[in-house]
Amino acid sequence: MKQHLIFPLLAVLLVIVSCSTPASQTEVITLDDIAAQLLLLDDNILKVQAENPTTGDGLPRVIPRTINKDGSLSVLPAGDWTSGFYPGVLWYMYELTGEAEWKDKAVKYTATLEEQQYNGSNHDVGFRMFCSYGNALRLTGDEAYISVLEQSAKTLIVRYYENVGCIRSWNFNEEVWQCPVIIDNMMNLELLFWASEQTGDPDYYDIAFRHALTTMDNHFRPDNSSVHVVDYDTITGAVRMKNTHQGYADESAWSRGQAWGLYGYTMTYRFTDHLDFLKQAEKIAGFLLENPNMPDDLVPYWDYDAPGIPDEPRDVSAAAIMASALYELCSYSENGAYYKEKADKILESLGSTYASAPGENCGFILGHSVGSKPADSELDVPLNYADYYYLEALLRQKNLESQ
Ligand code: GLY
Repeated sequence: MKQHLIFPLLAVLLVIVSCSTPASQTEVITLDDIAAQLLLLDDNILKVQAENPTTGDGLPRVIPRTINKDGSLSVLPAGDWTSGFYPGVLWYMYELTGEAEWKDKAVKYTATLEEQQYNGSNHDVGFRMFCSYGNALRLTGDEAYISVLEQSAKTLIVRYYENVGCIRSWNFNEEVWQCPVIIDNMMNLELLFWASEQTGDPDYYDIAFRHALTTMDNHFRPDNSSVHVVDYDTITGAVRMKNTHQGYADESAWSRGQAWGLYGYTMTYRFTDHLDFLKQAEKIAGFLLENPNMPDDLVPYWDYDAPGIPDEPRDVSAAAIMASALYELCSYSENGAYYKEKADKILESLGSTYASAPGENCGFILGHSVGSKPADSELDVPLNYADYYYLEALLRQKNLESQ
């Protein structure tokens, strides 16, 4: 081909490639940008449900979780651990905008989870129900939501092992683990603290308090990072082993796990006023914010000890959880101004570099999260919980700044 024809052709190809390659945002996205994305997501959900109403197991597809490798939307049944986050996203949009359209959608998607109040197959009933029904009750005051949440708390405490002092997280891998407890489980305690206040029954509080103490004793290392899974002997309560499931190694610091710990101890301090929990949250924050492997934009790699840093994927979900937790921590800690500055920096990074370009990622707000690198699953994708904690962090920032 003649050279004068090659160059125009290359230019056209470059334009095509750059149109199909996600461009990072340079400006921080606005609430209008977020709303436009979420309306697109809602359209996409309805299309998937119409064309493909059930999963391989015959369960109805209800909640968007991420995108598949081919770029299509992944919509999962109500029993998925992440099912509470999309209703929660819709509730937060209602709270951020005051627009009834979001409330109507939130009510509808929340109702799809009603049966989950009885799902005690793992600890995730707390995630599923408090992010959906918990926000529904908080924002509407509708008492019909209370009985569902109370039943959810009853379902969760069935998993409590008195001899261990913890709620068991998972039932799989039973040939290896007896009573596996993951750091993520700290997040489920919010449902129990709420239930104790709601019902006046101290058992919920006592179980949550004891779980937090046991976890503080056994999950944390001298450098204030945490192990992912601690397995306990169900008879003696002794620690049997310490493993990872989603991190790089048993001894490494899986980024989302560290963020769950930070959020979990900050929230637990809110309900208990127990200073050791506040100190634990501050110690975790120190590990994260002073970590030599934390990038300047404060969006961590998927594991702080991932061997290929800096050529490892970032985990936006870990950053979003951390930002939300830091906004809460700043109202309790003497280091509040420092935590606020860091949380602001995370939100700025997420809302610019890591936000979906308009129309991208099926309508999810943020890209670039990691579900499970060891399982080669959900690498560098949007995740519904990254969006949930991002919106929660935006709300917390707004509330702090309007005080
Ligand atoms: N709680 C499961 C996860 O963070 O992936």
